[in-house]
Amino acid sequence: MAVRKDTIFERFLSPVLQLFIDRDGLEQFYRSIDWETESDRFRNPTLVYPVYYSTQNFHGVEKGYLNPRAAVSYDPITQYVLLPNETLIRQAAIATVQGKPRRILDLGCGTGSTTLLLKQAFPEAEVIGLDFSPYMLVMADYKAQQAGLNIKFIHANAEQTGLLDGSFDLVTASLLFHETPPTVSRAILQEAARLLKPGGEVLILDGSQNTLRQTEWLTQIFEEPYMQAYATGSVDAWMGAAGFGAVQTQELWWIHQITWGIKPLPGHDPESARPHPNSVRIDDSAVPDTGFPAPAFE
Ligand SMILES: C[S@@+](CC[C@H](N)C(=O)[O-])C[C@H]1O[C@@H](n2cnc3c(N)ncnc32)[C@H](O)[C@@H]1O
Repeated sequence: MAVRKDTIFERFLSPVLQLFIDRDGLEQFYRSIDWETESDRFRNPTLVYPVYYSTQNFHGVEKGYLNPRAAVSYDPITQYVLLPNETLIRQAAIATVQGKPRRILDLGCGTGSTTLLLKQAFPEAEVIGLDFSPYMLVMADYKAQQAGLNIKFIHANAEQTGLLDGSFDLVTASLLFHETPPTVSRAILQEAARLLKPGGEVLILDGSQNTLRQTEWLTQIFEEPYMQAYATGSVDAWMGAAGFGAVQTQELWWIHQITWGIKPLPGHDPESARPHPNSVRIDDSAVPDTGFPAPAFE
């Protein structure tokens, strides 16, 4: 599958971003790491990559996250994409958490930007970051070590983590669902429900589906094969379908959304779970359930 070279990102944003990025510094950093040896510390050789993940290019990087260069370029680009301020957006999502979680799992943790902030917000908690890319995990682990934070990183599929039932108080995923087909996002939410203890919280940070639906050009800016399918769906509805209660979505700075829910206690109606105090329910009644999408770029 070829990646379109005529996206707004390719033609305009990428050249502009190059001006702000220290390409020589990144190249030096890239060469300073023996990626295969380092990634072997995390690699689970039994993992099988699904087609949606292994055959796509993401953000113009060939082979997507299965290319170590993606791990090096991810943070320098993301800081300009998560406007108005990356840390502020990630912290706003974390501020939605109601309880004091003791075990936290960050699915699709990537280079660990949210994972590190979770550990800083809940220093007593055991925090685990999980990702499909062993190269992203090398980067995440490097950042955690630099920050002096004790975080465990594991190489696994967020759809089927192999972790124990009911073993987490909080499961998070930031910027994951716009990169997975909706059927996969829904399966990940089912897995999150399995992993959480009753009363545990789930927290999803991603692009505002409401805004993306109204501004199709936004979905075409980046080389994101599943962005349009994500935009036509509803994380709110997917969470409800996975059995979460009190599901609430709040928009943040127009382009982001935070969706929060709780795993109901046994015998309790999911809808009777306590809603989050700061949240507004988004009306998703008009949103069609698209099922498995066609990739945006053929
Ligand atoms: C856009 S990055 C987001 C990284 C990070 N959560 C953040 O907020 O910056 C998406 C990440 O999800 C990972 N990913 C995609 N599908 C996955 C799956 N099924 N299981 C685990 N990780 C997955 C990718 O490898 C990539 O690191």
